[in-house]
Amino acid sequence: MARSWASLQQAKQQGRKIVALTAYDAPTAKLVQAAGLDLIIVGDSVGTNVLGYGSEQEVTLADILHHLRAVRRGSPDLPVIADLPYGTYSSVSAALDNAQALMAAGADAVKLEGPEIDTVKALVQAGIPVCGHLGLLPQTQQERRLQGKTLTEAQAIWQGSLALQGAGVVVLVLELIPWELAGWISRQLAIPTIGIGSGWQTDGQVLVVQDVLGMSERQLRLAKAYAQVGEQMLQAFRLYAQEVRQGHFPAPEHARPMPPATLAAFQAWLAETGGG
Ligand code: KIV
Repeated sequence: MARSWASLQQAKQQGRKIVALTAYDAPTAKLVQAAGLDLIIVGDSVGTNVLGYGSEQEVTLADILHHLRAVRRGSPDLPVIADLPYGTYSSVSAALDNAQALMAAGADAVKLEGPEIDTVKALVQAGIPVCGHLGLLPQTQQERRLQGKTLTEAQAIWQGSLALQGAGVVVLVLELIPWELAGWISRQLAIPTIGIGSGWQTDGQVLVVQDVLGMSERQLRLAKAYAQVGEQMLQAFRLYAQEVRQGHFPAPEHARPMPPATLAAFQAWLAETGGG
């Protein structure tokens, strides 16, 4: 998938599912690209999944810039969406400055949460592609509960989707909303939707990489672990510690000898001078 939004649009038109994953470092981004996925999101989920923060609100622009640059180095070819963190788009001018910083660091689009229509319009007008995010908004909603369960909530999410499309977003993330609502929005909108915890009728899916790898302490119903990397890491760390403590690592094959002539000369020098 080339780094253009037209290719995601084309995927939607052709009924091809878009597959996205979060990534926060170069080796992971390289593997995501090698595996043939379509899109990377450098989300503020980096805060709770990698940085040890208590919530998304602690993530700074500097954090996202740091991880975004690493991801871009690892994946030069995939489209990368970077989150504008909490508090970085509280005014239109702040949004413009911060989004420009993300674009300069290698983002292909910036993502912000909620129907921030004026801000989206200003970013689009400045030539910055924007990804919308509706449903559960982790920057301001700490409780992970299904959004859009009531008529009022469902109407607001649907109307927000329409307004964001009208404001010019290139793609829309729908997080933790009922699958019927996600399906309706996806069928009605011309732009692609990427779901997380919103069923199978969105144009694409995104998951947090730690959840896919089985590396998170939390077991979210919306996610699926395709490996148990956390358990494998634990076993590897335990085995390493055991081998070092028992003197099995490093073995001769992990060490390099001194050239015999140097060794002989060194020993002679030690004998002669005592090493002083
Ligand atoms: O922060 C994040 O990683 C996200 C994605 C899961 C969409 O918002």
